[in-house]
Amino acid sequence: MKVEQLFTSCLAEMAYYIESNGEAAIIDPLRETEPYIEMAKADGAKIKYIFLTHFHADFVSGQVDLAKKTGATIVFGPNAEPQYEIHQGKDGEEFKLGHGKITLLHTPGHTMESSSYLITDEKGNTPYVCTGDCLFIGDVGRPDLAVKSGTLTQDDLAGHLFDSLRNKIMTLPDDIIVYPNHGAGSACGKNMSSETFDTLGNQKKTNYALRADMTKEEFIVEVTTGLKPPPQYFGNNVRMNKGINISIDEVLAKGIRPIDAATFKEMSEHGDILVVDTRSKDDYADEGTVPGAWYIGVDGNFAPWVGSLIKNINQKIIFIAEGGREHEVVIRFSRVGYDNTLGYLRGGIHAWLAAGFKVDKIGSVSAIQFANKLKEGSIKAALDVRKESEYLSEHVVGVENFPLDFIHSNFAEIKPDKEYFLHCASGYRSLIAASIFQANGVKKVTDVRGGFNDVKDTGVKLTEYVCPTTLL
Ligand SMILES: [Fe+2]
Repeated sequence: MKVEQLFTSCLAEMAYYIESNGEAAIIDPLRETEPYIEMAKADGAKIKYIFLTHFHADFVSGQVDLAKKTGATIVFGPNAEPQYEIHQGKDGEEFKLGHGKITLLHTPGHTMESSSYLITDEKGNTPYVCTGDCLFIGDVGRPDLAVKSGTLTQDDLAGHLFDSLRNKIMTLPDDIIVYPNHGAGSACGKNMSSETFDTLGNQKKTNYALRADMTKEEFIVEVTTGLKPPPQYFGNNVRMNKGINISIDEVLAKGIRPIDAATFKEMSEHGDILVVDTRSKDDYADEGTVPGAWYIGVDGNFAPWVGSLIKNINQKIIFIAEGGREHEVVIRFSRVGYDNTLGYLRGGIHAWLAAGFKVDKIGSVSAIQFANKLKEGSIKAALDVRKESEYLSEHVVGVENFPLDFIHSNFAEIKPDKEYFLHCASGYRSLIAASIFQANGVKKVTDVRGGFNDVKDTGVKLTEYVCPTTLL
């Protein structure tokens, strides 16, 4: 039996491909269908099942398209009621795959339909369990996303999660490999490891949520403490995962349309179309961009930032991409449900310049220049756009926290005539923030190249966070 973990770093997501004797199954596929179809083709296999661990909140999964193209059966666990045809599995139900089998374990808690899948090979061994968002490496799924007002609180869900972990997962052999749906960087948990798998035995020793002597009450408190509000697109993605969406092929046909510079300019000046520049940080910073464009580079956590920052999931979008990556960009927008891409700038920014159109540029200083200006007192407003937790752990004295995650809700504090210096950790988030500042009319925005990682080595004064408990 072949079992492959398919890791997508942008979403910190793991799908799984399983094959035995000409039959294949996919667990938690992303929106696009081709990679899975190609894998099965290479093995001479037919995709028989598409298993879903739950309705995902952080990406749109492609089970409906994939089932249509392959004839595979979509399997969810108990309590799942989507608007398309599925096989609703029962706890303990076995699904034959080639000479092996996959067994559904209903493990509610993260959501009520959440299920895990045990993989049994041809020899009858059970080396893997795909735990979805029930058990991560170093963490468990957050129990607040599927709260239903009036009937189900996050404490209820956390209680179910405790029971699922203790009764269904922790009773499995210690040497079984845990294959979760997410790793570090995902907002589906709060403290995930960067490892993508581990033995259950090791997780029992190291994962705070699996502590042997933990009571249910303690578990509920620990998993519900310190949760940050989920990104704004999560609700939309759950809704899309329960419904039938426009097919990825249609999204691509519409989205990878080349647009000449003059038409692109006209469209960019149209109030209801957003321009997104997806190129590398250097190309964007050095060459400038179409006035009004937002920067969200494709070589970063592109999809989560698209979902967190673009409020309207149906937003009409035209984009600038590195030549040859247009198809990838459209797919990555659609992974979080942004299906209304209308095309890209043909010939890129060079065609724009050749047509004689003006570009907007973000100002830029090195970490040393920034440190010197701070010492001279010539900086009036400097903002650190990292998360609050990063800022609290260490930051530059005199720099305020203005997290990118909350840029829209806090934007009223920004004065268009003031000059702002922005930094993040390494220069990706600060460019996104700078582009949104500029698109919203701030005249002077300067990015600190290399971000905090470089600034802290300049000898500038840093504050260290002192945890209140250490003062007791
Ligand atoms: Fe999830």
